[in-house]
Amino acid sequence: MNSLAGKVAIVTGAQQGIGRQYAMALARAGAAVCVSDIVNPEIAAAEIRELGGEAIAAACDVTRNESLHHMVSEVEKKFGRTDILVNNAALFGGLNMASFTDITEDEWDRVMTVNIRGTWQATKAIFPLMAQSGGGKIINISSATVFKGTPKLLHYVASKGAIVALTRSLAREVAEQNICVNAIAPGLVASDNVRNHPDWKNVADSVIATRALKRESVPDDLIGALLFFASDASNFITGQTLVVDGGVVMH
Ligand SMILES: NC(=O)c1ccc[n+]([C@@H]2O[C@H](COP(=O)([O-])OP(=O)(O)OC[C@H]3O[C@@H](n4cnc5c(N)ncnc54)[C@H](O)[C@@H]3O)[C@@H](O)[C@H]2O)c1
Repeated sequence: MNSLAGKVAIVTGAQQGIGRQYAMALARAGAAVCVSDIVNPEIAAAEIRELGGEAIAAACDVTRNESLHHMVSEVEKKFGRTDILVNNAALFGGLNMASFTDITEDEWDRVMTVNIRGTWQATKAIFPLMAQSGGGKIINISSATVFKGTPKLLHYVASKGAIVALTRSLAREVAEQNICVNAIAPGLVASDNVRNHPDWKNVADSVIATRALKRESVPDDLIGALLFFASDASNFITGQTLVVDGGVVMH
């Protein structure tokens, strides 16, 4: 079960929500984890250590290069390498649904800056250490909404569509360094922020009705895909996006 023993993982946006579960799962599989988030993630890192795992916390904004470089230097100082990057940080749970005519330019830019530019910036900052470590796995977080279209979240859906394109192009650029790049596209998941949304019950019920597997999705549903892409089991797979949505999107 320790398929990631000796590996070092960085998870962005991991102080709570799905990112926190990703960090915990990687630690359970034997990886040392850098739990990173714009909000101080010390509590999440401490939880991993209390359960016997190895973890450090890095307060890091994925849109700021100096913040990213500081995080990478902390990882290098503590672990000397990095093998897995999960680009999970995004603006999602706190977004209000609005018609495309009502989204402001400021909000559009904020979503694009964190969700897509931040993924590129984090990857760029971590790439030299990952290449120096002999290669690794980059796992980007897209969304199943990209493949069906969801109204009233145009900026978010567009940003997650760009993650699919980035994953494919980056996979071709970094294969030479023995780095695989894949994406997970979750359906609606009952993460902390999402469950607290005032419309949660109505939205969840309507999404569940469209699933082949008619139940709520929880962060645990994504862990199999995460560990597959993080482990040697996926060494000949790159540029792919795996939809994990209980069978809404099928292609
Ligand atoms: N929950 C869902 O239904 C769902 C579905 C599909 C995809 N996703 C994606 O999964 C990921 C996690 O989802 P979630 O529901 O836990 O989201 P969330 O909004 O609850 O959590 C996102 C995390 O990112 C952090 N973050 C925001 N801006 C940051 C920045 N500039 N730098 C670093 N960290 C930053 C936040 O502090 C937060 O901890 C996101 O990429 C989201 O888009 C979620």
